[in-house]
Amino acid sequence: MKNVRTNGQRKRVFIRTYGCQMNVYDSDRMADVLRPLGYALSEDPEHADLVVLNTCHIREKASEKVYSELGRLRDLKIERRRAGGDLAIAVAGCVAQAEGEEIIRRQPAVDIVVGPQAYHRLPELLARVARKADERLFDGRRRPGAGVLDTEFPAESKFDHLPAPSEADVRAGSAFLSIQEGCDKFCTFCVVPYTRGAEYSRPATAVLQEARALAAAGAVEITLLGQNVNAYHGEGVDGSAWTLARLIRALAEIDGLVRLRYTTSHPRDMDDDLIAAHGCVPQLMPYLHLPVQSGSDRILEAMNRGHDRDHFRRLVDRLRAVSPDLALSSDFIVGFPGESDADFDDTMRLVDEIGFASAYTFKYSRRPGTPGAALGDQLSDGAKTARLGALQSLLGDQQRAFNESKVGTVVPVLFAEAGRKPGQVLGKSPWLQSVYVEGDADMIGSIVNVRLLAAYALSLSGEVVSKQPFGVAA
Ligand code: SAH
Ligand code: SF4
Ligand code: F3S
Repeated sequence: MKNVRTNGQRKRVFIRTYGCQMNVYDSDRMADVLRPLGYALSEDPEHADLVVLNTCHIREKASEKVYSELGRLRDLKIERRRAGGDLAIAVAGCVAQAEGEEIIRRQPAVDIVVGPQAYHRLPELLARVARKADERLFDGRRRPGAGVLDTEFPAESKFDHLPAPSEADVRAGSAFLSIQEGCDKFCTFCVVPYTRGAEYSRPATAVLQEARALAAAGAVEITLLGQNVNAYHGEGVDGSAWTLARLIRALAEIDGLVRLRYTTSHPRDMDDDLIAAHGCVPQLMPYLHLPVQSGSDRILEAMNRGHDRDHFRRLVDRLRAVSPDLALSSDFIVGFPGESDADFDDTMRLVDEIGFASAYTFKYSRRPGTPGAALGDQLSDGAKTARLGALQSLLGDQQRAFNESKVGTVVPVLFAEAGRKPGQVLGKSPWLQSVYVEGDADMIGSIVNVRLLAAYALSLSGEVVSKQPFGVAA
């Protein structure tokens, strides 16, 4: 089968997304940018004319995975060329930004390397690749310089050039909306400030416009995204700088939007107004992902997190005072350089004191170029594994207990997809728990009242009580 399609014919793009929700948003937006060029989404690289790997650099494992995937794509490309066709390969995302040209050196079959702030220029990059087609050799190798690279930084220009979102950007009633990019906090373990650039907040007018377009395209839930989403300080509709709380209050006025979420927030940027919003904006879901990383003051300091354990505890108390049913989720890193048994015990104690509804736990990964990588006293993998196991076990118990505490109650569930078993549908509670019920696919995309019947480690099962009209939040 020939895969080179002449102009006017439908082309297909396969996009594989690694990493965080910002990458999920970016992948959708890349699809939006490619659609006017005639690219439809493909579920399978085997059927694609263009494959985009939207990569993550946060931990070593995530970024190394990209090269093995690229090896497989090179083989596919060689096969295609032998059959008289072709396959274009693009690497986007944070590995693209961090490693740039090195990617093309390590895998010469790559045609395009494009950073997270430059992907609005994909059409131009594809045109450049087409012009360079004659430089490519048959077996997937190329002469130096044949791949094209765009890792420029200005976040604002990306948003100025992206098309308005459409139905394709809404998944079963839910959509992501990036409102803030980049990070200036420079935690000593983290690559994000280097891969995503300086902190930038989109103007409120642009955010509200995108939110209205998403609501018109069927979104009932929007999750606002940013690496430090609560550091948001975009230009407001009135010209003053708006905080995230101010933006949330404006978004809550959009008809049809009944669920608002935001992620990821930093404990340093939870201002009074935002805490208050959790008590008085009904659309704001009672769930907050607030990464703390460690419960040890010494380690928090070494990580450059800019707050101590007591700050976190007081924050949680204040949030729970205004929103007693708030579910808290967090990120933890075990085995940061120099972390002693006593430091790790402090983390376990903090978890015990707070009680989390869910959490993500990671072994510290030494990232080249970050200050943490240069620190002495790096821990062995064995030590990290043991701590990870203990922490996961405690957090797992807490998650199950939280799920059990909801059994017997009736909660609104936004149904997102078919369940694994036939006749089952799967959705999310206000606390972002996965909830299974017996039901039809026509429930997908709508909010339905469900009585929760049983709790498991990572999900709950329930039965439909009644369909409730939109506009009734949790
Ligand atoms: N901006 C967010 C985190 C973004 S990265 C914040 O400040 O909390 C997502 C998570 O990945 C982090 O919360 C952290 O737990 C984890 N992470 C980041 N760098 C890491 C590293 N070098 N090793 C292990 N985990 C890491
Ligand atoms: Fe990374 Fe810290 Fe910025 Fe979060 S706040 S993105 S962990 S540097
Ligand atoms: Fe990964 Fe980049 Fe997100 S490094 S976690 S994809 S910001």
